[in-house]
Amino acid sequence: MASEFTKLFDDWSKTYDDTVAGTDPEYREVFAHYEDILQSVADKAEGLILEFGVGTGNLSERILRQGKELIGYEPSGEMRKISVQKLPGLTVFEGDFIDFPVTERSPDTIVSTYAFHHLTDEDKRTAISRYHELLSAQGKIVFADTVFADEEAKEKMIRDASDKNYTRLAQDLKTEYYTTIPVLTGFFEEIGFDVEFTRKNGFVWLIEAVKKS
Ligand SMILES: C[S@@+](CC[C@H](N)C(=O)[O-])C[C@H]1O[C@@H](n2cnc3c(N)ncnc32)[C@H](O)[C@@H]1O
Repeated sequence: MASEFTKLFDDWSKTYDDTVAGTDPEYREVFAHYEDILQSVADKAEGLILEFGVGTGNLSERILRQGKELIGYEPSGEMRKISVQKLPGLTVFEGDFIDFPVTERSPDTIVSTYAFHHLTDEDKRTAISRYHELLSAQGKIVFADTVFADEEAKEKMIRDASDKNYTRLAQDLKTEYYTTIPVLTGFFEEIGFDVEFTRKNGFVWLIEAVKKS
């Protein structure tokens, strides 16, 4: 169940909350409006909610604060440890976007922030298909993540990062599995969702996909 990124996130876990607060200039724009982005995902979640890539529990905290019912999944043991230290009421299982212990009841909302790009496009498709089977009627997926309008926009972001000597960011953009809106739209529509994208900063979009009845 370990993701290829588990070691990276085990190592990053202790300083992750500093990064999202904007201490790393290379990632400042990626995490611009982080609090608002997480809040907008939490506000749209309802019913039984599954969260993937819980990390240090920042989205989970907002959802639990609203008194909503949440089950989390996270492949990194160090991240899971921090999330339950921060939120003793959180239920978080070892699991990833595709391989996770399912709930007895159908979930109504599946949420995730800053994590879906860790799946290849083929695995994204597999995950969306799995969620279509699991979700209740008219259930929905609410994600926030880095996505690009098209391949040209992605190439431009990589060039911009290199020009600023943001070598770690440029390397991430080249080697992780950041996708485009047309690719994701194709997957969601083909599998049976209506999907909408709303821009939240220079990198991140809110993705809301509702199961068609
Ligand atoms: C950038 S952090 C985001 C954490 C948190 N959701 C947030 O918004 O701050 C990405 C998280 O996704 C997790 N992750 C990586 N690959 C994953 C996968 N295949 N399935 C689920 N989670 C994964 C990482 O371990 C990490 O905790």
